[in-house]
Amino acid sequence: MEKLHAKKCRRVVLVPFPLQGHLNPMLDLANILHSRGFSITIVHTKFNFPNPADHPDFQYVPISDGISNWDISASNLVRLASTINTNCKDSFRKCLTQMMQQQQEEKQNDQVACIIYDFLMHFAETVANQMSLPSIIQRTSNAAALLAFCKLPRLRAEGYDCLQDSTSDELVPGLHPLRFKDLPTASMGSLDNFLQLIAVVCNTRTSSAIIWNTTDCLEHSSLTQLQEHYNVPFFTLGPMHKMALAKSSNLVIKDDNNCIEWLEKQAPHSVIYVSLGSIATLDQKELTEMAWGLANSDQPFLWVIRPGLGSGSEAHLPEAFQELTGDRGCIVKWAPQKDVLAHPAVGGFLSHCGWNSTLESISEGVPMICKPYFVDQKMNARYLSHEWGIGIELDEVMQRTDIAKAIRRILVEEEGSRMRQKVIALKEQIKHCIKEGGSSYNSLNKLVQFISSL
Ligand code: UDX
Repeated sequence: MEKLHAKKCRRVVLVPFPLQGHLNPMLDLANILHSRGFSITIVHTKFNFPNPADHPDFQYVPISDGISNWDISASNLVRLASTINTNCKDSFRKCLTQMMQQQQEEKQNDQVACIIYDFLMHFAETVANQMSLPSIIQRTSNAAALLAFCKLPRLRAEGYDCLQDSTSDELVPGLHPLRFKDLPTASMGSLDNFLQLIAVVCNTRTSSAIIWNTTDCLEHSSLTQLQEHYNVPFFTLGPMHKMALAKSSNLVIKDDNNCIEWLEKQAPHSVIYVSLGSIATLDQKELTEMAWGLANSDQPFLWVIRPGLGSGSEAHLPEAFQELTGDRGCIVKWAPQKDVLAHPAVGGFLSHCGWNSTLESISEGVPMICKPYFVDQKMNARYLSHEWGIGIELDEVMQRTDIAKAIRRILVEEEGSRMRQKVIALKEQIKHCIKEGGSSYNSLNKLVQFISSL
């Protein structure tokens, strides 16, 4: 199938949720659609907004969110989503009305074709409906996670207490290979809020389609099951960071590119890259265990200690740590993660298993050590370790001996080489998905046709 472009110049309005793990795939999608001839407007909250200078071809429109300061943490996520949905509806309606009036007055030919919104920004769908505009959901997490989310209320009705913290190793009926302990729980806030979130996450409302940041080669079974359930077209364009021609945008912290120079000095596959994404936090004890785990592994490490990683106060590393590790370690506040994972020196990724990090690691053929925290992360970790065989799971309680052992298993031992072979095979399948004729490439062509037909 040849590469399809928008027939006329048409505008797509995208509404991202203001967290890094959600913004990245939406900006990637914006880049992808722009490369296929669409004009792009990003409507964003004033809180945690992307830098317009990163994508000068896009139009950026801020909307009021009534948020002055917000502590971004797991326990606050559901509340953040509900606050934004309550506060942004009116300002989004105003902004859309103005945009469309202006287009009519100026007789612009790039009329709004549709609204594409992050699944957590459902106010955008309500407003789109009121204005008779089509809307499309973008799912920034994976299909297996949505399947599990949608099953939670039924499991609860059947008497399983899986919405509270569960430690059970038992397999969840109908959700192979997930165990009860892998499921997302209400530990991220109150049970009522969590149930509300589940209802929002699982409902496609009146949207015309769903865009996924995943691939058929990783999630064929979950996507097929979901497609039976949802009566709208699916477009699976993942991994979007590989489909996009330009980079996304950092929300808070700039990339520290010095770490690439440091990586240049390291042997192939010798470095463990450690990053727990943009939200997860460590208490002082966990931070100390991680530091000693890295020190005791005797392997080179690149560790992202972003401001706020240490919960409560700034991160304090053990006194002897720096002296003991010296040049063997490189610590940065924020890494250019995709470049780091693509670097030949990196042999493993100790990660919280957010979906973006998972896709980015697989796309570069890097096996993982999994230390998941919340929402979809435990499910992703289970898929990495059990289904795809490319990850080692750490225990819930972080211990220096386990960390050092896992690092050596990945970087030094035969087991790590076997995992690397498996993840490289997946990387090749992903390459096939995104090139001409592959499933993500074809899906993008279908999406371009679909939006052009709206
Ligand atoms: C959140 C949730 O934690 C996750 O479970 C959900 O799937 C998406 O939203 P987050 O913690 O931000 O995600 O993790 P992740 O999904 O991995 O996204 C983090 C992004 O930040 C990645 O694209 C990664 O490349 C980027 N990043 C992270 C950097 O560029 N540099 C860093 O130093 C750390």
